Amino acid sequence: MSPGATERPNTFQRIQSDTTLPAVIPESSQTAANAPLTQLFGLTNQTVAITGGGRGLGLSLASAVVEAGGHVACLDILTAPEDTEWQRIQKLAKQSHVTVTYTRVDITDEESMVHVMEDVASTGREKQAPLNGVIACAGIQQKVSALDYPIADFERMLRVNTVGTFVTVKTAARIMVREKTPGSIVMVASMSGNIANRGLTCSAYNTSKAAVQQMARSLAQEWGQYGIRINTLSPGYIRTAMTDELLAAEPEIEKLWMAGALLGRLGAPEDFKAGTVFLLGRGSSWMTGADLRIDGGHTASA
Ligand SMILES: NC(=O)c1ccc[n+]([C@@H]2O[C@H](COP(=O)([O-])OP(=O)(O)OC[C@H]3O[C@@H](n4cnc5c(N)ncnc54)[C@H](O)[C@@H]3O)[C@@H](O)[C@H]2O)c1
Repeated sequence: MSPGATERPNTFQRIQSDTTLPAVIPESSQTAANAPLTQLFGLTNQTVAITGGGRGLGLSLASAVVEAGGHVACLDILTAPEDTEWQRIQKLAKQSHVTVTYTRVDITDEESMVHVMEDVASTGREKQAPLNGVIACAGIQQKVSALDYPIADFERMLRVNTVGTFVTVKTAARIMVREKTPGSIVMVASMSGNIANRGLTCSAYNTSKAAVQQMARSLAQEWGQYGIRINTLSPGYIRTAMTDELLAAEPEIEKLWMAGALLGRLGAPEDFKAGTVFLLGRGSSWMTGADLRIDGGHTASA
Protein backbone atom coordinates (compact mmCIF):
# COMPACT_ATOMS: atom_id res chain seq x y z
CA MET A 1 0.00 0.00 0.00
CA SER A 2 1.32 3.45 -0.89
CA PRO A 3 2.20 5.79 2.00
CA GLY A 4 -0.77 7.96 3.07
CA ALA A 5 -3.47 5.70 1.52
CA THR A 6 -6.24 4.63 3.93
CA GLU A 7 -6.79 0.94 4.29
CA ARG A 8 -10.28 -0.15 3.11
CA PRO A 9 -11.87 -2.80 5.32
CA ASN A 10 -12.52 -6.03 3.49
CA THR A 11 -16.11 -7.15 2.85
CA PHE A 12 -16.15 -9.45 5.84
CA GLN A 13 -14.99 -6.71 8.21
CA ARG A 14 -17.58 -4.29 6.79
CA ILE A 15 -20.43 -6.78 7.19
CA GLN A 16 -19.32 -7.51 10.74
CA SER A 17 -19.39 -3.87 11.84
CA ASP A 18 -22.58 -3.04 9.88
CA THR A 19 -24.63 -5.80 11.46
CA THR A 20 -24.67 -4.33 14.96
CA LEU A 21 -28.36 -3.82 15.76
CA PRO A 22 -29.50 -0.37 16.84
CA ALA A 23 -30.34 -0.12 20.54
CA VAL A 24 -34.01 0.54 19.71
CA ILE A 25 -35.86 -0.69 16.65
CA PRO A 26 -38.92 1.60 16.32
CA GLU A 27 -40.78 -0.94 14.15
CA SER A 28 -40.65 -3.48 16.99
CA SER A 29 -43.13 -1.39 18.93
CA GLN A 30 -45.38 -1.11 15.85
CA THR A 31 -45.65 -4.72 14.76
CA ALA A 32 -48.35 -7.00 16.14
CA ALA A 33 -45.86 -9.82 15.60
CA ASN A 34 -43.90 -8.62 18.64
CA ALA A 35 -45.63 -11.19 20.85
CA PRO A 36 -44.85 -14.64 22.22
CA LEU A 37 -44.78 -17.28 19.49
CA THR A 38 -47.86 -19.01 20.90
CA GLN A 39 -49.91 -15.87 20.19
CA LEU A 40 -48.68 -15.45 16.62
CA PHE A 41 -50.95 -18.25 15.40
CA GLY A 42 -53.96 -17.47 17.62
CA LEU A 43 -57.26 -16.18 16.20
CA THR A 44 -59.24 -15.65 19.40
CA ASN A 45 -61.90 -12.92 19.41
CA GLN A 46 -61.94 -12.88 15.62
CA THR A 47 -64.54 -13.88 13.06
CA VAL A 48 -63.40 -15.37 9.77
CA ALA A 49 -65.68 -15.70 6.71
CA ILE A 50 -64.83 -18.67 4.48
CA THR A 51 -66.30 -19.07 1.01
CA GLY A 52 -66.30 -22.58 -0.38
CA GLY A 53 -66.85 -23.53 3.26
CA GLY A 54 -69.35 -26.25 2.40
CA ARG A 55 -66.85 -28.99 1.64
CA GLY A 56 -63.26 -29.78 0.59
CA LEU A 57 -60.45 -27.39 1.40
CA GLY A 58 -62.78 -24.64 2.68
CA LEU A 59 -64.28 -26.91 5.32
CA SER A 60 -60.84 -28.14 6.46
CA LEU A 61 -59.70 -24.54 6.80
CA ALA A 62 -62.82 -23.83 8.88
CA SER A 63 -61.57 -26.50 11.24
CA ALA A 64 -58.13 -24.83 11.37
CA VAL A 65 -59.65 -21.46 12.29
CA VAL A 66 -61.70 -23.08 15.07
CA GLU A 67 -58.59 -24.82 16.40
CA ALA A 68 -56.86 -21.41 16.45
CA GLY A 69 -59.75 -20.04 18.57
CA GLY A 70 -61.68 -18.08 15.91
CA HIS A 71 -65.38 -17.98 15.05
CA VAL A 72 -66.23 -19.09 11.51
CA ALA A 73 -68.92 -18.20 8.97
CA CYS A 74 -68.96 -20.75 6.16
CA LEU A 75 -70.50 -19.50 2.90
CA ASP A 76 -71.15 -21.77 -0.07
CA ILE A 77 -73.56 -22.31 -2.94
CA LEU A 78 -74.33 -25.87 -1.75
CA THR A 79 -77.68 -26.34 -0.01
CA ALA A 80 -75.93 -27.77 3.04
CA PRO A 81 -72.34 -28.53 4.06
CA GLU A 82 -70.85 -32.00 3.83
CA ASP A 83 -72.50 -33.74 6.77
CA THR A 84 -69.79 -35.85 8.46
CA GLU A 85 -67.18 -33.10 8.43
CA TRP A 86 -69.78 -30.55 9.53
CA GLN A 87 -70.74 -32.64 12.59
CA ARG A 88 -67.06 -32.97 13.49
CA ILE A 89 -66.45 -29.21 13.24
CA GLN A 90 -69.55 -28.38 15.27
CA LYS A 91 -68.33 -30.67 18.04
CA LEU A 92 -64.91 -29.05 17.97
CA ALA A 93 -66.44 -25.56 18.01
CA LYS A 94 -68.56 -26.42 21.04
CA GLN A 95 -65.50 -27.66 22.92
CA SER A 96 -63.61 -24.48 21.98
CA HIS A 97 -66.54 -22.14 22.88
CA VAL A 98 -66.73 -20.66 19.38
CA THR A 99 -69.40 -20.79 16.69
CA VAL A 100 -69.42 -22.06 13.12
CA THR A 101 -72.37 -20.98 10.97
CA TYR A 102 -73.39 -21.92 7.44
CA THR A 103 -75.08 -19.67 4.86
CA ARG A 104 -75.98 -20.57 1.32
CA VAL A 105 -74.91 -17.85 -1.11
CA ASP A 106 -73.52 -17.47 -4.61
CA ILE A 107 -70.26 -15.49 -4.45
CA THR A 108 -70.92 -13.97 -7.87
CA ASP A 109 -74.11 -12.28 -6.63
CA GLU A 110 -72.84 -9.01 -5.17
CA GLU A 111 -76.13 -7.90 -3.61
CA SER A 112 -76.53 -11.17 -1.70
CA MET A 113 -72.88 -11.13 -0.66
CA VAL A 114 -73.26 -7.61 0.77
CA HIS A 115 -76.19 -8.81 2.94
CA VAL A 116 -74.44 -11.99 4.04
CA MET A 117 -71.16 -10.21 4.95
CA GLU A 118 -73.09 -7.54 6.91
CA ASP A 119 -74.86 -10.34 8.83
CA VAL A 120 -71.56 -12.08 9.55
CA ALA A 121 -70.00 -8.81 10.74
CA SER A 122 -72.96 -7.90 12.92
CA THR A 123 -73.03 -11.35 14.59
CA GLY A 124 -69.28 -11.01 15.14
CA ARG A 125 -69.71 -7.59 16.76
CA GLU A 126 -72.30 -9.01 19.18
CA LYS A 127 -69.71 -11.57 20.28
CA GLN A 128 -66.90 -9.01 20.54
CA ALA A 129 -65.28 -10.89 17.67
CA PRO A 130 -65.15 -8.53 14.69
CA LEU A 131 -65.00 -9.77 11.13
CA ASN A 132 -61.30 -9.35 10.43
CA GLY A 133 -60.47 -12.45 8.50
CA VAL A 134 -61.56 -13.86 5.14
CA ILE A 135 -60.62 -17.02 3.28
CA ALA A 136 -61.89 -16.77 -0.30
CA CYS A 137 -61.77 -20.46 -1.19
CA ALA A 138 -64.81 -21.06 -3.43
CA GLY A 139 -63.87 -22.08 -6.94
CA ILE A 140 -64.66 -24.30 -9.88
CA GLN A 141 -62.51 -26.31 -12.28
CA GLN A 142 -63.03 -27.53 -15.85
CA LYS A 143 -60.84 -29.46 -18.24
CA VAL A 144 -61.48 -28.58 -21.91
CA SER A 145 -59.02 -28.19 -24.76
CA ALA A 146 -58.46 -24.52 -25.63
CA LEU A 147 -59.32 -25.00 -29.31
CA ASP A 148 -62.78 -26.23 -28.33
CA TYR A 149 -63.34 -24.10 -25.23
CA PRO A 150 -66.88 -22.65 -25.36
CA ILE A 151 -66.61 -18.94 -24.61
CA ALA A 152 -69.58 -19.08 -22.23
CA ASP A 153 -67.70 -21.69 -20.15
CA PHE A 154 -64.51 -19.62 -20.19
CA GLU A 155 -66.48 -16.61 -18.99
CA ARG A 156 -68.17 -18.64 -16.25
CA MET A 157 -64.77 -19.79 -14.96
CA LEU A 158 -63.55 -16.20 -14.71
CA ARG A 159 -66.90 -15.12 -13.26
CA VAL A 160 -66.70 -17.58 -10.34
CA ASN A 161 -62.97 -17.89 -9.68
CA THR A 162 -61.89 -14.31 -10.31
CA VAL A 163 -64.92 -12.00 -10.15
CA GLY A 164 -66.56 -14.03 -7.35
CA THR A 165 -63.33 -13.85 -5.35
CA PHE A 166 -63.24 -10.10 -5.93
CA VAL A 167 -66.88 -9.74 -4.79
CA THR A 168 -66.00 -11.69 -1.62
CA VAL A 169 -63.02 -9.57 -0.65
CA LYS A 170 -64.61 -6.29 -1.71
CA THR A 171 -67.73 -6.84 0.43
CA ALA A 172 -65.62 -7.81 3.46
CA ALA A 173 -63.02 -5.05 3.03
CA ARG A 174 -65.71 -2.35 2.81
CA ILE A 175 -66.91 -3.41 6.26
CA MET A 176 -63.37 -3.49 7.68
CA VAL A 177 -62.68 0.02 6.35
CA ARG A 178 -66.00 1.37 7.66
CA GLU A 179 -65.49 -0.20 11.10
CA LYS A 180 -61.81 0.77 11.14
CA THR A 181 -60.95 -2.88 11.82
CA PRO A 182 -57.65 -4.13 10.49
CA GLY A 183 -57.94 -7.48 8.76
CA SER A 184 -56.22 -10.26 6.90
CA ILE A 185 -57.59 -11.75 3.69
CA VAL A 186 -56.42 -15.00 2.15
CA MET A 187 -57.46 -15.75 -1.41
CA VAL A 188 -57.02 -19.35 -2.51
CA ALA A 189 -55.31 -19.26 -5.90
CA SER A 190 -53.34 -22.26 -7.18
CA MET A 191 -49.89 -23.27 -8.37
CA SER A 192 -51.72 -23.22 -11.74
CA GLY A 193 -51.47 -19.43 -11.51
CA ASN A 194 -47.71 -19.90 -11.98
CA ILE A 195 -47.40 -22.94 -14.21
CA ALA A 196 -49.32 -24.74 -16.95
CA ASN A 197 -50.05 -28.20 -15.58
CA ARG A 198 -48.76 -30.95 -17.82
CA GLY A 199 -51.62 -33.09 -19.16
CA LEU A 200 -54.32 -30.73 -17.93
CA THR A 201 -56.06 -28.63 -20.56
CA CYS A 202 -57.39 -26.02 -18.14
CA SER A 203 -56.60 -22.70 -19.79
CA ALA A 204 -59.57 -20.88 -18.25
CA TYR A 205 -58.88 -22.18 -14.73
CA ASN A 206 -55.17 -21.33 -14.94
CA THR A 207 -55.99 -17.85 -16.24
CA SER A 208 -58.50 -17.29 -13.44
CA LYS A 209 -55.95 -18.26 -10.76
CA ALA A 210 -53.12 -16.13 -12.20
CA ALA A 211 -55.61 -13.25 -12.08
CA VAL A 212 -56.29 -13.95 -8.39
CA GLN A 213 -52.55 -13.75 -7.65
CA GLN A 214 -52.31 -10.41 -9.43
CA MET A 215 -55.47 -9.23 -7.68
CA ALA A 216 -53.72 -9.75 -4.32
CA ARG A 217 -50.83 -7.49 -5.33
CA SER A 218 -53.20 -4.82 -6.66
CA LEU A 219 -55.49 -4.82 -3.62
CA ALA A 220 -52.54 -4.92 -1.21
CA GLN A 221 -51.37 -1.72 -2.84
CA GLU A 222 -54.77 -0.09 -2.26
CA TRP A 223 -55.75 -1.46 1.15
CA GLY A 224 -52.51 -1.41 3.15
CA GLN A 225 -53.38 2.13 4.27
CA TYR A 226 -56.44 0.69 6.09
CA GLY A 227 -54.46 -2.03 7.84
CA ILE A 228 -55.92 -4.71 5.57
CA ARG A 229 -53.43 -7.34 4.43
CA ILE A 230 -54.21 -9.55 1.46
CA ASN A 231 -52.23 -12.57 0.30
CA THR A 232 -52.80 -15.66 -1.81
CA LEU A 233 -52.40 -19.30 -0.90
CA SER A 234 -51.42 -21.39 -3.90
CA PRO A 235 -51.93 -25.11 -3.41
CA GLY A 236 -50.60 -27.89 -5.59
CA TYR A 237 -52.69 -31.00 -6.30
CA ILE A 238 -54.94 -31.79 -3.34
CA ARG A 239 -57.21 -34.78 -2.94
CA THR A 240 -60.71 -33.27 -2.83
CA ALA A 241 -64.01 -33.73 -4.66
CA MET A 242 -62.67 -31.35 -7.33
CA THR A 243 -59.65 -33.51 -8.22
CA ASP A 244 -61.46 -36.82 -7.60
CA GLU A 245 -63.81 -35.92 -10.43
CA LEU A 246 -60.88 -35.36 -12.79
CA LEU A 247 -59.06 -38.51 -11.69
CA ALA A 248 -62.20 -40.63 -12.01
CA ALA A 249 -62.64 -39.46 -15.61
CA GLU A 250 -58.95 -39.88 -16.53
CA PRO A 251 -57.09 -42.09 -14.02
CA GLU A 252 -53.83 -41.93 -16.05
CA ILE A 253 -53.45 -38.27 -15.04
CA GLU A 254 -52.38 -39.34 -11.57
CA LYS A 255 -49.10 -40.74 -12.98
CA LEU A 256 -48.28 -37.33 -14.47
CA TRP A 257 -49.05 -35.59 -11.20
CA MET A 258 -46.95 -38.04 -9.21
CA ALA A 259 -43.99 -37.39 -11.55
CA GLY A 260 -43.78 -33.89 -10.07
CA ALA A 261 -44.57 -34.90 -6.50
CA LEU A 262 -41.15 -34.34 -4.92
CA LEU A 263 -42.38 -35.57 -1.55
CA GLY A 264 -43.90 -38.73 -3.01
CA ARG A 265 -47.58 -37.93 -2.55
CA LEU A 266 -50.38 -35.56 -3.51
CA GLY A 267 -51.59 -32.95 -1.03
CA ALA A 268 -54.27 -33.36 1.64
CA PRO A 269 -56.53 -30.51 2.81
CA GLU A 270 -54.71 -30.60 6.17
CA ASP A 271 -51.46 -29.53 4.46
CA PHE A 272 -52.90 -25.99 4.23
CA LYS A 273 -54.12 -25.49 7.79
CA ALA A 274 -50.90 -24.07 9.26
CA GLY A 275 -50.14 -21.84 6.27
CA THR A 276 -53.63 -20.35 6.28
CA VAL A 277 -53.67 -19.68 10.03
CA PHE A 278 -50.22 -18.09 9.64
CA LEU A 279 -51.54 -15.78 6.89
CA LEU A 280 -54.60 -14.83 8.98
CA GLY A 281 -52.77 -14.32 12.26
CA ARG A 282 -50.51 -11.66 13.68
CA GLY A 283 -47.41 -13.73 12.90
CA SER A 284 -47.64 -12.55 9.28
CA SER A 285 -48.19 -8.89 10.25
CA TRP A 286 -45.65 -7.59 7.73
CA MET A 287 -46.81 -9.76 4.84
CA THR A 288 -49.14 -8.46 2.16
CA GLY A 289 -49.43 -8.78 -1.61
CA ALA A 290 -47.53 -12.07 -1.42
CA ASP A 291 -48.17 -15.65 -2.51
CA LEU A 292 -47.64 -18.63 -0.24
CA ARG A 293 -47.21 -21.66 -2.48
CA ILE A 294 -47.62 -25.08 -0.85
CA ASP A 295 -47.36 -27.73 -3.53
CA GLY A 296 -45.15 -30.60 -2.40
CA GLY A 297 -42.40 -29.23 -4.64
CA HIS A 298 -44.41 -29.60 -7.83
CA THR A 299 -43.64 -26.14 -9.24
CA ALA A 300 -39.95 -26.60 -8.47
CA SER A 301 -39.68 -29.68 -10.69
CA ALA A 302 -39.44 -29.37 -14.46
N1 LIG B 1 -58.14 -29.58 -5.23
C1 LIG B 1 -57.02 -29.10 -5.73
O1 LIG B 1 -56.14 -29.85 -6.18
C2 LIG B 1 -56.77 -27.62 -5.75
C3 LIG B 1 -55.51 -27.18 -6.14
C4 LIG B 1 -55.25 -25.81 -6.16
C5 LIG B 1 -56.25 -24.91 -5.80
N2 LIG B 1 -57.47 -25.38 -5.43
C6 LIG B 1 -58.47 -24.38 -5.08
O2 LIG B 1 -58.93 -24.60 -3.76
C7 LIG B 1 -60.27 -24.14 -3.64
C8 LIG B 1 -61.14 -25.25 -3.02
O3 LIG B 1 -61.14 -26.34 -3.90
P1 LIG B 1 -61.56 -27.82 -3.49
O4 LIG B 1 -60.55 -28.72 -4.04
O5 LIG B 1 -61.87 -27.88 -2.04
O6 LIG B 1 -62.86 -28.00 -4.39
P2 LIG B 1 -64.37 -28.31 -4.01
O7 LIG B 1 -65.07 -28.37 -5.32
O8 LIG B 1 -64.46 -29.44 -3.10
O9 LIG B 1 -64.79 -26.98 -3.22
C9 LIG B 1 -65.10 -25.79 -3.85
C10 LIG B 1 -66.32 -25.19 -3.15
O10 LIG B 1 -66.65 -23.95 -3.78
C11 LIG B 1 -68.06 -23.87 -3.83
N3 LIG B 1 -68.49 -22.96 -4.89
C12 LIG B 1 -68.32 -23.10 -6.24
N4 LIG B 1 -68.91 -22.08 -6.87
C13 LIG B 1 -69.45 -21.26 -5.93
C14 LIG B 1 -70.20 -20.06 -5.99
N5 LIG B 1 -70.50 -19.47 -7.15
N6 LIG B 1 -70.60 -19.50 -4.83
C15 LIG B 1 -70.31 -20.09 -3.65
N7 LIG B 1 -69.61 -21.23 -3.53
C16 LIG B 1 -69.20 -21.82 -4.68
C17 LIG B 1 -68.49 -25.30 -4.14
O11 LIG B 1 -69.86 -25.51 -3.85
C18 LIG B 1 -67.55 -26.10 -3.26
O12 LIG B 1 -68.10 -26.34 -1.99
C19 LIG B 1 -60.72 -23.74 -5.06
O13 LIG B 1 -60.60 -22.34 -5.20
C20 LIG B 1 -59.72 -24.45 -5.94
O14 LIG B 1 -59.55 -23.82 -7.18
C21 LIG B 1 -57.76 -26.69 -5.39
